[in-house]
Amino acid sequence: MKKFLFALTALAMVACSTAPQMSKEEKEAFKFADKLIKKMTLQEKIGQLQQFVTGKGVVTGPDGEKRNIEEAIRQGTVGSFLNIYSTEEYIHLQKIAVEESRLGIPLIFGFDIIHGCRIQFPENLASSCSWDIEGIEHSARIAAEESAAMGIHWTFSPMCDVSADPRWGRVSEGSGEDPYLGAKIAAAMVRGYQGDDLSSDKTVAACVKHFAAYGVPQAGRDYHTVDMSELMFRNRYLPPYKAAIEAGAVTAMSSFNDFMGVPASGNKWLMHTLLREELGFTGFVVSDYAAVHEMIKHGTAADGKDAAYQSMNAHLNMDMVRGDYIAFGEELVKEGKVSEKTINMLCREVLAVKYRLGLFDDPFKYGRQNQDEVVYRPENLEFAREVAAKSMVLLTNNGVLPLNEGVKIALVGPLADSKRDQMGAWIGYGEAERSVTIREALEKRYGKSNVLYAKGSDFRAPIKGGIAEAVRAARKADVVLLSIGLSYKESGEATSLTEITVPEAQQELLDALKKTGKKIVVLLGTGRAMDIRNEVEKADAVLVTWHGGTMEGPAVADLVSGDKNPSGHLTMSFPYCVGQVPVHYNMKVTGRPRKSPTQKSKYISRYMYTPNEPLFPFGYGLSYSEFEYSDLQVLTPEVELGGVVKVSVKVANKGKYDGDDVAQLYVRDVVAETTRPMRELKGFERFSLKAGEEKVLTFEIPTSDLAYCHSDMSFKADAGEFKVWVGADSNAQLEGVFTLK
Ligand code: GLC
Repeated sequence: MKKFLFALTALAMVACSTAPQMSKEEKEAFKFADKLIKKMTLQEKIGQLQQFVTGKGVVTGPDGEKRNIEEAIRQGTVGSFLNIYSTEEYIHLQKIAVEESRLGIPLIFGFDIIHGCRIQFPENLASSCSWDIEGIEHSARIAAEESAAMGIHWTFSPMCDVSADPRWGRVSEGSGEDPYLGAKIAAAMVRGYQGDDLSSDKTVAACVKHFAAYGVPQAGRDYHTVDMSELMFRNRYLPPYKAAIEAGAVTAMSSFNDFMGVPASGNKWLMHTLLREELGFTGFVVSDYAAVHEMIKHGTAADGKDAAYQSMNAHLNMDMVRGDYIAFGEELVKEGKVSEKTINMLCREVLAVKYRLGLFDDPFKYGRQNQDEVVYRPENLEFAREVAAKSMVLLTNNGVLPLNEGVKIALVGPLADSKRDQMGAWIGYGEAERSVTIREALEKRYGKSNVLYAKGSDFRAPIKGGIAEAVRAARKADVVLLSIGLSYKESGEATSLTEITVPEAQQELLDALKKTGKKIVVLLGTGRAMDIRNEVEKADAVLVTWHGGTMEGPAVADLVSGDKNPSGHLTMSFPYCVGQVPVHYNMKVTGRPRKSPTQKSKYISRYMYTPNEPLFPFGYGLSYSEFEYSDLQVLTPEVELGGVVKVSVKVANKGKYDGDDVAQLYVRDVVAETTRPMRELKGFERFSLKAGEEKVLTFEIPTSDLAYCHSDMSFKADAGEFKVWVGADSNAQLEGVFTLK
């Protein structure tokens, strides 16, 4: 069929240009900034571009230079600090800035509030498995309120890096392998953090990170090279960053990696052409930790001065930690290598954000609240419990779950009673002592005498007598709940693994418990997808509990008891083995696709002894209910470009439990201008049905969602035939067809 390429609109014909118009608020902020800049010395302007650690806070990277930070504030040679851990310190440093520096320009304080401030929500990969966009937004809102009360102005979140590589520990901070879902979540988090009024003392500035494509490091090794075509980047990795910017994020963070051969912090195509000119970003960009200076290690900068020269001219506003901006900025201007016009541009964008945060009006508004009234609110803890329960994913269950009342439980494993591990990585202002563990929650739910606890083993080493103790507990119990997986130290930054199986010491625990003949439920605590073939084979049920945060324990008790019904669906494929990685549902078909898992032909795209398919696919998750999808109707078999595709499907709860499920809609552009994914998520709906109930869901997909970047980088949809599927995971079989005219 002849393919006609149509432009969606004249605007879209410009390569992917969607720059939003500047708001009244932004214009007012820049007007203020421009007026202030006229009073500033060159050194003071460069000072606004420098961020330091205090040396007393949380360390999140190689130690910065030791320096007299209070004198630096007085001299106006620093404009921001990160990861300060005390409200008193915020107030102390802000007072120096406002009262003792020449112009009294307030500091902006940033912190890694990644999945909660005091209350820790599940790690972000876990929360994404709830597919509950409103819930994720509300979680970010709670995190913002707690953060602002602690004195924080700015969080280095959301992490928008799409990734399908569980060797890379930072998948725990993101929203999985899909750009469409990742974009929805990134925008929701920005709305949650920034709300409708950035100057409110209940909101904080968001930060789009890590720009860009940090989630695809070579071999899954953190900080490693990222190399891909612009086409692949625009179609698969750009959407969440773009959505976060369109949601109004006022800051971004450059990533550690090089991108198309140039380290992100000095990459003008990324920091200026794409981010500003095309996406219309008007905020400021902070480098990742020492990333400007690390251009020397990358081998693209001769020294700190060269790194500062490249980054400033690339439109990177703020140097995090190492101090090359304040050390060499004036020299670079005097030598004519960086114009004062560039410094003014970089500075005004920082000042404008400080203005929009209300810091010039009231530099002490953040942290003034009565923290005891804001943090750990009971209703917010209860909400965190709900989020954790919705995030957990039931992968297998032979009927052992939910547990019967009066059951005697052997609770075993290193994650069963570990207040710190269940919080995961990046715990902000979280306090482990506030965590409620699985053990504590089960003892409360079933009675202490009905929960026989034995740690059994450490994460990667046996405990002397641990297995014997666990086996003794199992023999006295009706069922074993085995809480195993990875520790919080194996999640987040700099935690790349080449093996993604449960550590040997814990598998030996499982094997020993299996020999008792007792029913076993594996509770998998992890910040990443894993190879769990062994656990699936030996256990009667596998529930992924992730690193579920402060309220992980009560959420687990809610689910295993049946008080709540599991409803999480994977947002990252669980590979059959690490050799498949990266494996994700939206891979391309290739010219020699394997038609079915059993096809035996030789010359097809396959492995000789291993399936192509992951063990559990994107979108997969079980419930105690049985949801049935039927009667898919394409209500618009032919759709004009600019119109809306409508598809309906009937869903029924055939089980005996009320429950939620996540209906997912996938499409395939059958013949496109470039190779396209075999399926792409383009709609989803989390719904509730009582036992025996049924209803019809209708999806409305704007044809603009079918647009993609073509080989000439134009962003548009192709006319022609599309397949559409709806179901409870990315292998949905209910199929329909529609044609874009
Ligand atoms: C770290 C992380 C980044 C974080 C920053 C500040 O190295 O890469 O995500 O926001 O430094 O702590």
